[in-house]
Amino acid sequence: MIPNHPQFDKSKKTLEGANVQMLLRKFGSPLFVFSERILKEKFRLFRSVLNDLYPCSRIAYVLSANYVPGIVRILKNEGAWVVANSEFEYWLAKKIGFEESHTVFNGLWPGLFPQAETPIFLNDFSELECLNKLAQKNGSIAKIGLTVQISHANGRIWNCHGFNLESGEVKTALHLVKGKLTYLKACGFRFNLGTNLDDPEYYLYALERLIKLIKELGHDFADNLEYLSVGGGFAVPGSRWLYKSIWPVLTIENYVGPIAQELLKSFPRPPLLIFEPGRYLVDEAGVLLSMVLYAKRIPGAHIVKEGELFLNIERDTSPEDNKAQIVYVDAGVYSVLPAANIRSFNVDVISNQYSENSEKLQTYVIGNSLRGNDFLSRDNVLPELKKEDILVFYNAGAYTLSRSAQFVHPRPAVVIVGEDGSVASLRNKESFEHISSLDIF
Ligand SMILES: Cc1ncc(COP(=O)(O)O)c(C=O)c1O
Repeated sequence: MIPNHPQFDKSKKTLEGANVQMLLRKFGSPLFVFSERILKEKFRLFRSVLNDLYPCSRIAYVLSANYVPGIVRILKNEGAWVVANSEFEYWLAKKIGFEESHTVFNGLWPGLFPQAETPIFLNDFSELECLNKLAQKNGSIAKIGLTVQISHANGRIWNCHGFNLESGEVKTALHLVKGKLTYLKACGFRFNLGTNLDDPEYYLYALERLIKLIKELGHDFADNLEYLSVGGGFAVPGSRWLYKSIWPVLTIENYVGPIAQELLKSFPRPPLLIFEPGRYLVDEAGVLLSMVLYAKRIPGAHIVKEGELFLNIERDTSPEDNKAQIVYVDAGVYSVLPAANIRSFNVDVISNQYSENSEKLQTYVIGNSLRGNDFLSRDNVLPELKKEDILVFYNAGAYTLSRSAQFVHPRPAVVIVGEDGSVASLRNKESFEHISSLDIF
């Protein structure tokens, strides 16, 4: 599949019609830029596939992927529910305006007592005990789902949380709920198999085993199953693993089709199917712009081998043989692009200084942390770069700002280019005062 990236016009130096140099002058560099068009297109495509294949379904956006309110609100307005993975995300979801019944709770946090219609998934026996006590105190029955920890076909477990299927924990939990924790009613399950999964078989393998267990629990349970969440994890074009040169990505139909078929054939009254995508909805819509601080050619510079994190300089290489450059930019792996340690980012260049037919060089892009292994990119072939050229890092929408750290630099601003080409600020650039605002001087 071709990535759905913000439209980049090299000659006009625009992204989605917005002038890149103007954006950097106004909002500073580095800068995250999002496309409203792509956020909407991704959601609408997913929704239309579900409408065709399994209408009784919801898309619950995983806030952890990117919780900038202006981005989340666009998905909310399109009809998304939301997944809160922590007390903070629950607070944020409420502040953004999600109804509690549209918030999928992944865990039980202090002070939380879910409404009857709130989909809540518990991960552990202590959470079962705790919610049962709260429900008893409240004189009500709390509906719950169980997070199921399930291994892949190769035996690997990705999600460390939840009730383990293979060891019998799921059945033990259900017996406990039926026999002792009588203020709880189990009515759903979820699993989360990983991220960037490139084969629908992952989902089918887990689903088949979960359905087998549900059937073993008897008609009464199976017929009253209310909801099932199969997590997120859909791979995104352009978000390839480091050193993987080919990254074929399935369409959303390829993922949804087999899951829908399996459920429709297994249940006379199919449960509500919840999907929990993060990356799929926001990754392609966002780019990171970063300015070149300086660049140089070092004869013999290269990364020794796949997976190597440090630059190696081969001695006795003549300058004529050197087709590599090292480029230093004003963003870093340790601050805003943590995924660059495991993923290859495709990069475009905006420059006033080179022509299209200038020589292309193997390029190592190095961040501004001053740490040795701060590589933002190591496998792009780019023209010779100069100070103040601008690099565009694609697929920077998911797990970038939400996983960022204020490692020796304030974090950048976030803007969005609207469908009409207008630019809106979604988050201001941090100041030095923001970083140290909680410190006691
Ligand atoms: C509970 C849960 N569900 C779904 C996801 C979504 O994963 P992805 O962004 O790969 O779709 C995550 C990611 O952290 C998660 O924690």
